[in-house]
Amino acid sequence: MAEGTVFAAGWTLDDVQWSKFDASKVDPGLLQAVKAASLVEFNAPDYVIYLKRVFKDSGAETLANIEQWGVEETQHGLALGHWCELADPTFDFKASFARFREGYKAAHFFSDDATSVRGSRRGEMVARCVVECGTSSFYSAIREAADEPVLKEVAGRIAADEFRHYKLFFGMLHKQDEPELPFWRKLVVALTRVNESDDDELAYAFYAANIPPSEPYKREEYARAYYAQSLTLYRRHHVRKLVQMIAKTIGADPNGRLTQAAGAVAWRALRVKAGLNTRAAAHIAA
Ligand SMILES: [Fe+2]
Ligand SMILES: [Fe+2]
Repeated sequence: MAEGTVFAAGWTLDDVQWSKFDASKVDPGLLQAVKAASLVEFNAPDYVIYLKRVFKDSGAETLANIEQWGVEETQHGLALGHWCELADPTFDFKASFARFREGYKAAHFFSDDATSVRGSRRGEMVARCVVECGTSSFYSAIREAADEPVLKEVAGRIAADEFRHYKLFFGMLHKQDEPELPFWRKLVVALTRVNESDDDELAYAFYAANIPPSEPYKREEYARAYYAQSLTLYRRHHVRKLVQMIAKTIGADPNGRLTQAAGAVAWRALRVKAGLNTRAAAHIAA
């Protein structure tokens, strides 16, 4: 499969060339991050229920798109989980996922409130766009960093889906029959969502996927461990594109000077954070 292949939508697990798996090319640190990501992706049905509640009056097409989005995210979890089981035969994807479900519960998934936690449907779409910006750059970075050919392929397929999800939610953002949000409000939602990447979800996924249940959960420690394995994957062009996509979401010029400056600051911040977390997490044994 050529390095720059752009994978089409609608792929299935049977399309992946699993027979090309090469155990000698698995990076143990990257494997830890991919295990955690597989659990978060497979948890998509909760987001589908939540989004269908928030968008219940937005028409049949929107609800069908949310449903299809959830099917694709769940498949991302299955594909990554299967790769992790090939890379580490002691890893049990379904058992790890059960542990994750047991220990991680986001409050807004369990309420009946049809209002988005972001205050409006447009706010919800800004937050969803930011998440898809993050996942598209994350899997693009994995695709480039991985030596193992099947992980390269799976990450390429997922990254292409995540870019399409961004486009889907960007379109939904502008279709809502709500007043346009002021720029500052979109900026606050976007920055809040970027900041929430430090939340419990990734730390708990890292714990459930990589640490024996006999060890107690330590949120900060496992968040650091996750970031130590994931932030080091990014290259400058991934961060530049990520910031440009977020800028477009909030209505700023993706190629303007402010966006370029924000991209440079984000790149430096990421390098600092990656360094700090790598040192802090060095004592966590694989
Ligand atoms: Fe995904
Ligand atoms: Fe996605």
